Amino acid sequence: MRTIAHISDLHFDLVEPDVVAALPDDVRAHDPNLVVCSGDFTQRARSKQYQRSADFMKRLPHPQLVIPGNHDIPLFDVFRRFFAPLSRYRKYISAELRPLYLDEELMVMGINTARSFTFVLDGFWKDGRISEEQLLDVELRASQLPPSVFKVVVTHHPFIPPPKERVHGIVHGARRALEEMERHGIDMALAGHLHMGYSGDVRTHHEAVKRSILSVQAGTATSTRRRGEPNAYNVITINPEHVTVQVRKWDVQRKTFVAGDRTHFSRIEGIWQREG
Ligand SMILES: [Fe+2]
Ligand SMILES: [Fe+2]
Repeated sequence: MRTIAHISDLHFDLVEPDVVAALPDDVRAHDPNLVVCSGDFTQRARSKQYQRSADFMKRLPHPQLVIPGNHDIPLFDVFRRFFAPLSRYRKYISAELRPLYLDEELMVMGINTARSFTFVLDGFWKDGRISEEQLLDVELRASQLPPSVFKVVVTHHPFIPPPKERVHGIVHGARRALEEMERHGIDMALAGHLHMGYSGDVRTHHEAVKRSILSVQAGTATSTRRRGEPNAYNVITINPEHVTVQVRKWDVQRKTFVAGDRTHFSRIEGIWQREG
């Protein structure tokens, strides 16, 4: 069994101070094997914001696996945006843009989907992308591992939209990425970006994919930029054929994290089934 604490979308300095103060102890109480943060450490990629975000991450348990989000690339500093987009991320948060966690039961790999150029190509600066080159990592890291190792890919941008929502924010290149993830036996995908927590089978949105891959989205852990949901993060418990996603949500009145929705998935004949 493995436990991942999945936090996302910190957005320093647009944060709730009480949440920032309380979250590390709540994460620690779940004794995770790994803390994953799926991007947007800062609001505008400024040095002070990065410093505070890094200070916060130091208070969380280790090991940690982190990747940048679109907000971690400067928006208005055009020189830095195009010529050194992740220099501050690498200085303050992590120099590693292809992070990997591996033990005898679990492999977690990060794919950086944040881009400086997507607004030029697509007219929409927030969009993320997965390149063909990055997909080589999926093969490199997953193809030699036995099926007994549970395999997880972390991106900032999601693979599936929220239930009953219009399609937005889905990572460009998702279809190609899922082909490779299917081929190399990826079991689960973690992401953030939309500040909404939900989960489901990627095949609900990508009909061409044959392998059932569980997509789990975290809300925003600490940011004031909420989308009608409280600040929250996920505690994900993994047994190879059973995954439980326990949402930990902020209770404004009590100023503490409390148990939110708990969703249990069982993989039956290769298909992830939601059991409530
Ligand atoms: Fe975000
Ligand atoms: Fe984002």
